[in-house]
Amino acid sequence: MVADRPFTVFVLGGDGIGPEVTSEAARVLETAADLYGLRLDFHVMDVGERTFEATGSHISDADLHDCDCGSAEGDSAILFGAVASEPIGLFRRRYDLYANLRPVRMYSELLEMSPLRPEIVVGMDVLIVRELSSDVYYGEQRRGEREGVGRWASQEMYYNAHEVTRIAAAAFDLARTRRKQLTFAHKANAIPGVFAIWWEAIRAVREDYADVVFEDLYVDNLAAQLCMRPAGFDVILAPNMFGDILSDLCGGLVGSLGVLPSASLNPATGFALYEPVSGTAPTIAGQDIANPVGAILSAALLCRYSLGNATVSGAIEQAVQTTWREHRTRDLAGGGSYVTMSAFGTKVVESLREIVTDATTSSARKGASA
Ligand code: NAI
Ligand code: MG
Repeated sequence: MVADRPFTVFVLGGDGIGPEVTSEAARVLETAADLYGLRLDFHVMDVGERTFEATGSHISDADLHDCDCGSAEGDSAILFGAVASEPIGLFRRRYDLYANLRPVRMYSELLEMSPLRPEIVVGMDVLIVRELSSDVYYGEQRRGEREGVGRWASQEMYYNAHEVTRIAAAAFDLARTRRKQLTFAHKANAIPGVFAIWWEAIRAVREDYADVVFEDLYVDNLAAQLCMRPAGFDVILAPNMFGDILSDLCGGLVGSLGVLPSASLNPATGFALYEPVSGTAPTIAGQDIANPVGAILSAALLCRYSLGNATVSGAIEQAVQTTWREHRTRDLAGGGSYVTMSAFGTKVVESLREIVTDATTSSARKGASA
């Protein structure tokens, strides 16, 4: 963050529940800014299907230009909701947001909402590091028609050495800041060509990280292991598609996909996009019943990675946990009573204020007795 200028947060709700949950996250972030004296400017933009219907593109040229300037100047980040199609892929590619961090914790407050037995899932604290710039999602597409088989289509799974080396290094670095354990999710038995590139890079990168315990598992087995011993994993390094699937699996394990946040970083430029792991959830949109926690914790990740402020990030997370002790959104109510999404957001804001007031009072007391 440039000290003498405010930091700009581009707020892009998008489609479905995106705008609702993002506005709760922005409200929590605004409160945090107020309480901690952070200088934030919020710049709200319309993106997604309605923008496309109105203008023929999923983001206006003027808004894209503002994001380009923000990315170039290093004093902004995007707080994103979800979209049915674009511009999320556009952002990931345009700003080379290749490192997608997806923390998954089994919060003790939600233990009874996991489909797993408490003694199996307790203590689960995983960071999925998903490669986000390449893989089959951006691979070359071809199609045709052939006699005897009919129409055919293919989409290439592509990776190059540069792409895999940088994400492997990012994952090892992150493992070093945590419990120093890294699991690589791959499928070298069935896709040997692409994973030869991954293994070459990982072998080279590993040499600099002797302190990190490394293991690899075929991704299908890893999915099963995550269900049987989820607390046994620390950082999981995964190619784009495997990371996408494994993170939704983990959302299910901790009780709801709606609680998972993510950070998509370009460590070279510092530009980043923060969004919930889940999508637009069209069947619950507009009813004030979505879980805003994935979005709120994404705002907490913005504080951690873009503002470099772990204290604010931790306080937001704590405010969510405190709120869960008495209030649940519908997805986490187990058929019992629940509050609306906006009421939950208000409770998080109130908890955050209480946490900061308590911290200020206790440090004033310590000061007075010193
Ligand atoms: P989804 O994540 O929107 O929904 C999956 C399930 O989780 C649904 O049952 C939904 O109701 C529930 N859910 C998701 N978020 C929730 C929340 N915050 N609170 C409570 N329940 C929640 O995934 P789905 O249904 O596969 O995709 C819907 C649309 O979202 C599609 O158009 C897809 O392309 C898009 N999508 C967009 C993403 C993005 O913008 N980054 C990511 C994933 C999907
Ligand atoms: Mg996904």
